[in-house]
Amino acid sequence: MWNKVQETVKFLQSKGVSKPDFGIILGTGLGNFVENINVTLAIPYKEIPNFPISTVPGHSGELIIGKIGAKNVIAMKGRFHYYEGWTMEETVFPVRVMKYLGVENLIVSNASGGVNSAFKVGDIMLISDHINFIPDHPLRGKNEDRFGPRFVDMHEPYSKKMIAKMEQIAAKLNIPLQKGIYLALQGPTFETPAEYRMVKLVGADAVGMSTVPEVIVAKHMGMTCVGISVITDLGIEGIIESVSHEEVQEVAKIAEKKVGILVKEFILNN
Ligand code: HPA
Repeated sequence: MWNKVQETVKFLQSKGVSKPDFGIILGTGLGNFVENINVTLAIPYKEIPNFPISTVPGHSGELIIGKIGAKNVIAMKGRFHYYEGWTMEETVFPVRVMKYLGVENLIVSNASGGVNSAFKVGDIMLISDHINFIPDHPLRGKNEDRFGPRFVDMHEPYSKKMIAKMEQIAAKLNIPLQKGIYLALQGPTFETPAEYRMVKLVGADAVGMSTVPEVIVAKHMGMTCVGISVITDLGIEGIIESVSHEEVQEVAKIAEKKVGILVKEFILNN
């Protein structure tokens, strides 16, 4: 894995990628965020050595390199999910690559189902913490000490400082924000009513199928993370309705503008 990461890093550097200030992972329906980037380079995943190729509609699979103001950014338009059949190592591979390109700050985004009864469809939730319910772990197996330690401190998976900054910017821009705990399940099924109830009972506010493995390896390598979840549907008793990937994409698209303004302003002010 170490050699593969270094090989991919060398490839990207040979294409002109220098140290990005921020890494961004764009979740379902949030790919148009790249309109906020002055793109200098867009590389389809299939042209990047060792990169898996996304199989989910709405995750088109391109690595975007460019600038937001004076800040260098690298964005994943499309991510890898464990449910697609990738191993955990493959799922988180791009985060490893970002780290060795020099990224210290990672912004992760996703679409999720809300289980907090104060939430509405289309809300934006800052992720304050997470629970890993995916039945696998990206750090399982022999530890690669060059990436990070065997036992990783997770007392602050999402930077309190960055959360405060996001809240400050959202207040200034009049963008309402929720804050809560994101729980990751394997998927690809959406939750049954009993599973949504379980998610709420164990203390989470939203549920999805991504993000947590990426943040775990980011923390393994000492990166700072901030996470944003768009609430695309509600798993709340009495209002649970059917949910489809198309609806998730549609709602995320609507919230995308607000998320875009918030993240752009956050990057410009950091
Ligand atoms: N559950 C899991 N993943 C999701 C959901 C959901 O309700 N909405 C968007 N991604």
